[in-house]
Amino acid sequence: MAMIANKCKGTIVSVVDLNADRIAAWNSGNLPVYEPGLDEIVSQNRGKNLFFSTDVDEKIREADIIFISVNTPTKDYGAGSGQAADLRFVESCARGIAKAGGGDKIVVEKSTVPVRTAQMVKEILDSANNGYSYQVISNPEFLAEGTAMADLENPDRVLIGGDTSEEGQVAVEKVVSIYANWVEKERIITTNLWSSELSKLTANAFLAQRISSINAISALCEASEADVDEVAKAIGTDSRIGPKFLKSSIGFGGSCFQKDVLNLCYLCRHFGLPEVAGYWEQVIQMNEYQKERFVTRLLDSMFNTVSGKRLAILGFAFKKDTNDARESPAISICRRLLEEKANLAIYDPRVSKSSILSTLGWSEEQAEGRIHFCSTAEEACDRANAIALLTEWDEFKELNYASIYANMQQPAILFDGRNLLNLKSLREIGFRAHGIGRD
Ligand SMILES: NC(=O)c1ccc[n+]([C@@H]2O[C@H](COP(=O)([O-])OP(=O)(O)OC[C@H]3O[C@@H](n4cnc5c(N)ncnc54)[C@H](O)[C@@H]3O)[C@@H](O)[C@H]2O)c1
Repeated sequence: MAMIANKCKGTIVSVVDLNADRIAAWNSGNLPVYEPGLDEIVSQNRGKNLFFSTDVDEKIREADIIFISVNTPTKDYGAGSGQAADLRFVESCARGIAKAGGGDKIVVEKSTVPVRTAQMVKEILDSANNGYSYQVISNPEFLAEGTAMADLENPDRVLIGGDTSEEGQVAVEKVVSIYANWVEKERIITTNLWSSELSKLTANAFLAQRISSINAISALCEASEADVDEVAKAIGTDSRIGPKFLKSSIGFGGSCFQKDVLNLCYLCRHFGLPEVAGYWEQVIQMNEYQKERFVTRLLDSMFNTVSGKRLAILGFAFKKDTNDARESPAISICRRLLEEKANLAIYDPRVSKSSILSTLGWSEEQAEGRIHFCSTAEEACDRANAIALLTEWDEFKELNYASIYANMQQPAILFDGRNLLNLKSLREIGFRAHGIGRD
């Protein structure tokens, strides 16, 4: 929405949220989301044509176009628990829009939703019988955290799906005209509603599947002395395969990939396609296997026990350049190490202590003496038995590993879970260094 405000100066953009703390943060100098370039765009436009407010009903009444961008987490109760998307927040928005009234509206699904959710939104809006007409549009978001501003400024494509009726197509064109302020027309793809909804889940499933595929090969590389980075380069130069998303690691994380693949699996089962569901479930299973394999290798290298040992955890975010730790592979790896009675010294340049504790499910009291929150990588590594590099932050490439090594317990072990570092140089320093798929 900040990018829309920035590119469409004549349009007023009001962002509303029920969470007053979040809105207060959006109105402050300390935004709740860290994303390179976001601070500048928000501060340039806030108070001009970009506003943040908790007055949901009033802003609905004033708006011509409403983007529903609420969370759609995996359901953790009742039917479909563990797989289906929990649509109660989307439903509550639709009910709120119907109740608030204020005129004819275009309602845009920006949240990632299962195919045919627009039907539910439409039924709720139409059943309001308030004399106003509503058009539901699907406009899924393809930005990646960490590069969100660049992705929004210069998207590979913008996808807009709408009803094939005349009114539906008029609404599609209105939404197209927003993006056309800065995105070339050829990159704005219009489809029917269901294709648009399903394309978002499919895109995330394909991306996650590429990561699981290269991670599957990384296990074979470790067993066969092949090098997964070399294999990735060799296959990525094939134009049919392409080089992106072929970086082997401890696995994918973030709030979207797992939930969207699970949701796809749920939909397949719902539509009577268990074989298709089973195919995609493997993507998640491989991701779990990759995290567990990392822990097993770490334990092996530490004489099968980490009890009472200090392990430096470098990075907790699910990827670099974000403060987001949701579903980060660091969570299950750290939980497993804590189960094995290791003491963790965690450093991440952006993820807060409270976010680390809440994602781990640990209280401050439990963490006392077991988890140390460090303000530099050097502090985390001080007197550590081993280092586990879990996020590919650029600053980890620049550390003085010779001096870090000198302050560690011996033998000093380093596991690079992102294949970020040069293992040969680390070994020359004296580290017992390991990567993913290249031992
Ligand atoms: N985070 C990403 O990178 C990304 C990328 C593409 C798509 N998406 C999709 O966008 C959606 C939102 O993701 P997110 O990461 O921003 O989630 P989030 O949980 O960070 O934010 C959702 C916000 O919606 C608010 N909210 C919930 N119900 C509300 C209501 N009825 N009225 C007003 N506010 C309400 C919550 O308070 C919360 O602040 C999800 O469907 C997600 O899959 C996210």
